[in-house]
Amino acid sequence: SRGVVTRRLFVSGMFAAIGSVPAVAAAASEGGGTTAAPGGRVLRASPGTVVLDGRALQTWAYDGLLPGPTIRATAGGTVRARLVNDLPEATTVHWHGIRIAHAMDGAPGFSQRATQPGDTFDYVFTVPDAGTYFYHSHVGMQSDRGLYGPLIVEDPDEPHSYDHEFTVMLDDWLDGVNGNADDALRKMNTTPHDVTLTSHVLGGTSGHVRYPYYLVNGRTADDPMTYTASPGNRVRFRVINAAADTAFRVSLGGHRMTVTHADGFPCEPVTVDTFVVGMGERYDFLVTLEAGAFPLMAMAEGKAGRAFAVVRTAPGARTPSPNGQVPELQRRTLSYQDLRSLRADRLPPPSRTVTVTLGWRQRVGGNEWTLNGRLANDPMRLRVDQGETIRIVMHNDTHMWHPMHLHGHTFQVLTSGGRGPRKDTVNVMPRKRLKIDVHADNPGEWMFHCHNLYHQEQGMMGVFGYG
Ligand code: C2O
Ligand code: CU
Repeated sequence: SRGVVTRRLFVSGMFAAIGSVPAVAAAASEGGGTTAAPGGRVLRASPGTVVLDGRALQTWAYDGLLPGPTIRATAGGTVRARLVNDLPEATTVHWHGIRIAHAMDGAPGFSQRATQPGDTFDYVFTVPDAGTYFYHSHVGMQSDRGLYGPLIVEDPDEPHSYDHEFTVMLDDWLDGVNGNADDALRKMNTTPHDVTLTSHVLGGTSGHVRYPYYLVNGRTADDPMTYTASPGNRVRFRVINAAADTAFRVSLGGHRMTVTHADGFPCEPVTVDTFVVGMGERYDFLVTLEAGAFPLMAMAEGKAGRAFAVVRTAPGARTPSPNGQVPELQRRTLSYQDLRSLRADRLPPPSRTVTVTLGWRQRVGGNEWTLNGRLANDPMRLRVDQGETIRIVMHNDTHMWHPMHLHGHTFQVLTSGGRGPRKDTVNVMPRKRLKIDVHADNPGEWMFHCHNLYHQEQGMMGVFGYG
């Protein structure tokens, strides 16, 4: 069975709350009568209200759901989705991690013009690889408001068997009463940089941003997401970090986790107690459940908060506390060095090496995050030829870590043992270097950027382009 991913609370007052937990009340749509792309679905972006911790917060979401609806496809199959823009701003949908046809990438200024309010855009694309992905708006800070959802591509030849599959979509949530993600960015860009970087070494840039809530599938710890199974069940968890500014350290109390996929791609199974998932990264793990009720804990790295859910196999078991101890969090942590790709197709050897320096500088009233000293408005350009493999050495010259994401491709992370994981997003830790090999097999001009959305919006965006 598939885990219930989203919760729908009420839409424009037309729906009564379902269950006990309201999620998003979408503003009334004037759109009516919109039809999906042939054989496809509609994905409607609109303003709405989310209730978190008893507070009604204004936000934007897809189909009145937080997260947006799960989109499923089979490897080799086609996804058809018509974006309907009921927002007051232009928007796009980006299909994060998919080796997609360029025109369908949802990257404004790269693959399309953003879709204007009241307009629609038909996304039709094949999904070459099975895996755990997600979709999100790629305009400004929109995805941080809630414009994101899971995209699951199933493998018809899935090598693992399991009884249940549960999606865990993590997010950080701004204080939505007095501001939203755009206000937060504005504030960061107009407030003198008075925050010591070192207090946020691991956590991101949130010097001027408050995250009172951390979410699993749109729910806070006061009314947590609950996954139900039976003792002895083998369960596949798909963990997706949709947060703008928070990496999470994930453990399941009382269990070890066997990680089977990184960013959707299969790796040799490795059993750990905890792993850190950066913004834009995904991990899948398998676990055989004990009898009881267990905390699924996602600690905000370098911050004080946590996202929390419950995994229950015994109806009578006492519900764990979000403030309880989870010793697994202190035990063996997954590292990229542990991950070995299972992909049969090896990349051709790199023909050359380029260096990308991840930098930061202060300017009057704000920050600039740079790639090779350049900002998004005059971006770093990595030129590649069709069919070549290039090695990119990323050198993080800052005190923060950067989850670097490349559109339209996957890359191989170089590890000491060789055959590192295939990924599309990789954390580059403060003052460290990390090497990736990219095989240029998907023509176009592609975004290559930090998936900390504040860094992205403060300049950390380059171009990976052909010819
Ligand atoms: Cu998930 Cu360019 O982004
Ligand atoms: Cu960054």
